[in-house]
Amino acid sequence: MKIFAYGIREDEKPSLKKWEAANPNVEVGYTDNILTADSARLAEGCDGVVTLQTAPYTREALEVLSKLGVHNISIRNVGFDNFDFKDLNDLGFTLTNVPVYSPNAIAEHTVLLMGRLLRRVPEFDEKFDHGDFTWAPTIGKEYREQTVGVIGTGHIGRVVIQILQGFGAKVVAYDVYHNPEIEKQGLYVDSLEELYKQADIITLHVPLFDSNKYMINDKAIAQMKNGVYIINCARGELIDTDALIKGLDSGKIAGAGLDVLDNENAVFGKVWSSVDNIPDAKIKNLAKRTNVIITPHSAFYTETAIYNMITTAFDSNKALNQGEKPHNIVDTNPN
Ligand code: NAD
Ligand code: COI
Repeated sequence: MKIFAYGIREDEKPSLKKWEAANPNVEVGYTDNILTADSARLAEGCDGVVTLQTAPYTREALEVLSKLGVHNISIRNVGFDNFDFKDLNDLGFTLTNVPVYSPNAIAEHTVLLMGRLLRRVPEFDEKFDHGDFTWAPTIGKEYREQTVGVIGTGHIGRVVIQILQGFGAKVVAYDVYHNPEIEKQGLYVDSLEELYKQADIITLHVPLFDSNKYMINDKAIAQMKNGVYIINCARGELIDTDALIKGLDSGKIAGAGLDVLDNENAVFGKVWSSVDNIPDAKIKNLAKRTNVIITPHSAFYTETAIYNMITTAFDSNKALNQGEKPHNIVDTNPN
């Protein structure tokens, strides 16, 4: 069996070597390039491909794979919003993801972003850079005084709740599906409006669909408390950046912690040397603020996560190539 992998980074190679050693009957080829119509040709003669990218998977790339007879794709991450299901179905692909590689990685990052905003760390850092070791005016807030609204109580949202409860924060939650554990604790509110009304901090942990693109828009922000903090470690397109900037300008939003951004592919993964050189005007606007923390879609980026992403994705692809049906096949015909 032959598997070809795209977007392989140096930090993934030790995990990949371990997987190869444990699976001597599988021949693995790889490139550091992402999957495009050009690089798709590298999978000639292979049974399946393993990929990871935040850029869209184009129909042209999938057509090349399909012509080569490669129809099993295993992504090394959770979110599959960068695939068009119609393309996958038209061309006969089976897709697996890694639904749970380390929810703690993303949840810890989420709560750290909140904590850095609450204790005004970027502002202290800026003062420090000027040799200013004073307290005022950068007075902080404590978690136990905050009501945190968690939108999405899946694998990541639930770990976020656990960690926040350890800090003594009050949690309210919203999800279209009610998890029994969270239900038992009585944390669910009936509507997003209710969550917006109660929450001092709002954190997003839902997948991106056409139906929730820009769910955090002018209308939603108007329903939030004055001085709300917004955290997004899910997908950038859940937030309308114009509305976020307006909210920050007016003071309605006190700060934001953003691991993902609309149009992040134009900016993340490259070195700009200075925020002045960021080519996206809206992201540059956000990056210049001391009450906004941006991280480059790195919430997932831990040693544990990388090992699990590689191992599960390659195991899944091997299973597909053997004609098995692993539990993590993505349903490309929902409803
Ligand atoms: P999950 O599938 O376990 O949970 C998602 C939850 O959202 C589910 O409980 C589901 O019922 C709920 N949901 C779906 N649509 C909803 C809606 N419209 N309103 C309210 N709730 C809704 O997923 P997860 O593992 O918790 O991951 C959540 C998201 O985090 C992923 O889809 C991905 O986009 C993002 N993610 C980001 C990173 C990162 O590095 N920043 C890493 C992994 C995942
Ligand atoms: C995911 O797993 O969905 C992520 O957002 C991580 C990223 C490397 C694509």
